[in-house]
Amino acid sequence: MSTVIEDVKARKIFNSRGEATIEVEITTADGFGVASAPSGASKGKAEAIAYPPGGVDEAIRKVEELIAPELIGMNADDQEEIDNLLREVDGTKNFANIGGNTAYAVSLAAADAAANSYNMPLFQYLGGYFACQLPYPLGNVLGGGRHALGKAPDIQEFLVLPVGAPNFMAAAEANVRVHRKVRDILAKVDPYFTGGKGDEGAWAPTLTNEKALEVVVRACEEVSSEVGFECRVGLDVASSSLWDPEKQRYIYVNEGVERDSGEQLEYILSLISKYRLIYVEDPFHEEDFESFRELTSKVRGCLICGDDLFVTSEERLKVGIEKGAGNAIIIKVNQVGTLTDTWRTIRLAKENNYVPIVSHRSGETTSFHIAHIAVGLGCPIIKTGVVGGERIAKINELIYIEEILGEKAKMARLKI
Ligand code: PGA
Ligand code: ZN
Repeated sequence: MSTVIEDVKARKIFNSRGEATIEVEITTADGFGVASAPSGASKGKAEAIAYPPGGVDEAIRKVEELIAPELIGMNADDQEEIDNLLREVDGTKNFANIGGNTAYAVSLAAADAAANSYNMPLFQYLGGYFACQLPYPLGNVLGGGRHALGKAPDIQEFLVLPVGAPNFMAAAEANVRVHRKVRDILAKVDPYFTGGKGDEGAWAPTLTNEKALEVVVRACEEVSSEVGFECRVGLDVASSSLWDPEKQRYIYVNEGVERDSGEQLEYILSLISKYRLIYVEDPFHEEDFESFRELTSKVRGCLICGDDLFVTSEERLKVGIEKGAGNAIIIKVNQVGTLTDTWRTIRLAKENNYVPIVSHRSGETTSFHIAHIAVGLGCPIIKTGVVGGERIAKINELIYIEEILGEKAKMARLKI
């Protein structure tokens, strides 16, 4: 079976927010692959630049003029060489020339094409025979921040993690139940609730952070007793969006509260203990490794996860490891650009007992690749929303993966 690349195409498509994005298609002698890039609304400062100055059109031109001629004749399964080529053609550290999203689409389309040429599912191509662990889905059920407008909570995401689920299907069903139950409770407690949702399909009510937490905790408790296993609550504070560097404070606009770093730490600690949170993402802004360290040292049984803090970068994760900042890391391939970089960051995370969590972005395409990345690269949690076609595409792909793994399938081991 040959993985020799014969053709490379790039086109403009749209993501779930209706923004233009890039899709790349790679044809080999014996197969083909396709991948499209998502995009963020609350991006980290240290992320790869999504597109060159001329946007998606310029990115497409660069694939056609600079990347495709080099790729043709290479083997799609030489992932590292392909990713090195992308770095060489770009020539910057943060993909400012070709765009991190361009790199993402090419890198992933190559892997997809290689897997297809071997007639293998992508996760098996990436992870081999023993890649048979399904991730727990971390689902966004209520939110605000930069993903919604109006008087929604300042905290970006209120999440459910069905930690007790015996298999992926049961986990996905529990998340859907929690999402539905949250709506039913909101209809009773929020007189202004219209059923409106934010970018990731999470309900966007007019509630304060704590009232919203109470609703999600209640929904999780009720669903836990209905399904017979535990569903726990988490948060993505997305604190870089709240941080005002001039005032050196976190500004909770809708709540009318400001907190300095010390007050933020106390606030997060109180939420973790009061609501038994199992997961907190970006509780501090993206340069505050020190507060991450302090929080991590003070809690047990709760994942303290860096998204904007680490931006899927091996280098930034190394800083975190040295300081003891956090114990989990969000993995978004387009934050760093290539699959090889992503794999290195995941490996470093695992070697140092950081839980790698593969994640969608708020602006998603219907591409399901991250489902395969989670299983193939052995990430025990996937953060990918609960409803909406572009989120369900990933969930349904995991249902399919669980089915084709058959008796070999098992849930990942969660070390929290
Ligand atoms: P995004 O962020 O809007 O940058 O995708 C989602 C998140 O903060 O996890
Ligand atoms: Zn985040």
